[in-house]
Amino acid sequence: MATFERNDSANGAPAAARYAHIVGWGMALPETAMSNDELSTFVETDDEWIFARTGIRQRYIAHEGESTATLAYRAAQQALEVADILPTELDLIVVATSTAENIFPSTASLVQDWLNAHDAGAFDLSAACSGFVYALNMAADSIRAGSITSALVIGAETMSRILDWQDRSTCILFGDGAGAVVLKASAAPGGVLASVLRSDGAGGDLLAIPSVGSIDAAASRAGGNGNKLYKMTMAGGEVFRFATRVVSESIEQASARAGIAVSDIDLVVPHQANLRILQAAARKLGIDIKKFMSNLEKYGNTSAASIPIALCEAIEAKRIQDDDHIALVGFGGGLTWACMIIRWGLPIPRKPQSSLLNRQRRHVQYRIAKWRSRSRRWRRRVNRRVQSMRD
Ligand code: COA
Repeated sequence: MATFERNDSANGAPAAARYAHIVGWGMALPETAMSNDELSTFVETDDEWIFARTGIRQRYIAHEGESTATLAYRAAQQALEVADILPTELDLIVVATSTAENIFPSTASLVQDWLNAHDAGAFDLSAACSGFVYALNMAADSIRAGSITSALVIGAETMSRILDWQDRSTCILFGDGAGAVVLKASAAPGGVLASVLRSDGAGGDLLAIPSVGSIDAAASRAGGNGNKLYKMTMAGGEVFRFATRVVSESIEQASARAGIAVSDIDLVVPHQANLRILQAAARKLGIDIKKFMSNLEKYGNTSAASIPIALCEAIEAKRIQDDDHIALVGFGGGLTWACMIIRWGLPIPRKPQSSLLNRQRRHVQYRIAKWRSRSRRWRRRVNRRVQSMRD
C-alpha cells in the first residue's frame, strides 16, 4: 500500500486523505530491578502493603551510566528496527518526559543527534503521565495535516532521580524506563482516529515536581514551607479519585469522537499507576478488566513511558490484531489527562529481503552520528580559536 512522500500536500494539488499509523515500537529498561522487599530495607513498608494497594512487585532503577536519553535512544533504535526505516527519514522526534536530561537542550535533541536523524525537528513535551498520548496526538495531527510524513514519539523517564526516597507514599510507586513508536503517513484508512486532551491546572498542586523557576521552590530556599526542588510531592488519595473519574470519562468521550461504542474497544492500554485505578475504571465503563493491559507488577509507574511500554508488550504478546480498536489513556500531573482511539493495522507490508540491508544501513548511521557530532563540536572549537586569534 502506498505511503506518502514528504510534503506531498505542498505542491498545490488537492491533498489526498492521510492517516497516521503506528509502524514501529520499542522499549528499554534499566539493567537493575528493585523488588518491594529491597525497598523495605530502607523505607518503612512491605511487599504485602505495596502489592495489595497498587499491584506493584518491583520497578527498574537506572544506574549512573543510564539516563532518560540513553533509555529513550535504546527504545527508539528498536522502534526504527520494527518500522524498518532509516533515522534520516524521520521528520520529527518528540520525547514526552518529566525527567528531561536538561531544561535545554531537549532530550529529543540528544536522541536526534545520537540517531543521526539530521532532517528531524526535535523537542520535549511536558504533560506528566499523559505526555505520551499528548505527543502522539500532536505528531499524528502533523502527519494528517501534511506537514510531516514520519515521526518518532518517545515516552522516557528516570523517575528514580526525582523521588524523595524517604517518602514511602511516593517512592514505592515509580520506576524508570522508555517506550517509543514510529508514526507514518499512509493512504490506508485507520491508525489514529480521535483524541481527547484535557487539563485542570487548579489541581496542579496535587502532584508536582518544582523546578528552577518555581515560586514553591523559591519559598523552600528562603526557609519557608515550600516543596523541595526537583522532588515529587503527591496527594495520593485525591489523585486516586481524579484518576478513576477521568479514565472512564475520557474513554467515553474519545470513543464518541471516533464514532465507536465503548464496547467496540478491544484493548485499553492505560497509564500504569495503580491496578485499583484500572479496576475502578473498568467497573465504571462496564467492560471486563481483562481488556485492560497491565504490567504494573513488573515496572511500577514509569510516568510518560508506561503507555508505550505497555503497548509494546501488548503487541509482542499478540494481544492486538489488525482492525482492533485500541484506547490509549493517560492521566497525571497538571492535572492532565488524555485518551486516543487507534484502529490497528500495519499499512505497509513487510519486506524481509530489504530488512537486513536496512539494518546494516541503520548501524552505519549510528556510527556516523557519533563522528558527525564529534566533528561538529571540534569544528566549532577550531572556529572559536581562529576567531579569538583574529580579535
Ligand atoms: N507502606 C506501608 N504503609 C503505608 C505506605 C507504605 N508505602 N504508604 C502509606 N502507608 C500507610 C499510611 O501512613 C496510612 O497509615 P495510617 O492509616 O496509620 O495513617 C495507611 O497506610 C493508609 O494510607 P493511605 O494514603 O490512605 O493509603 P491509600 O490506600 O490511599 O494508598 C496510594 C496510597 C499512594 C497507594 C494511593 O493513594 C494511590 O495509589 N494514589 C494514586 C497515586 C498515583 O497513582 N499517582 C500517580 C498518578 S500519575
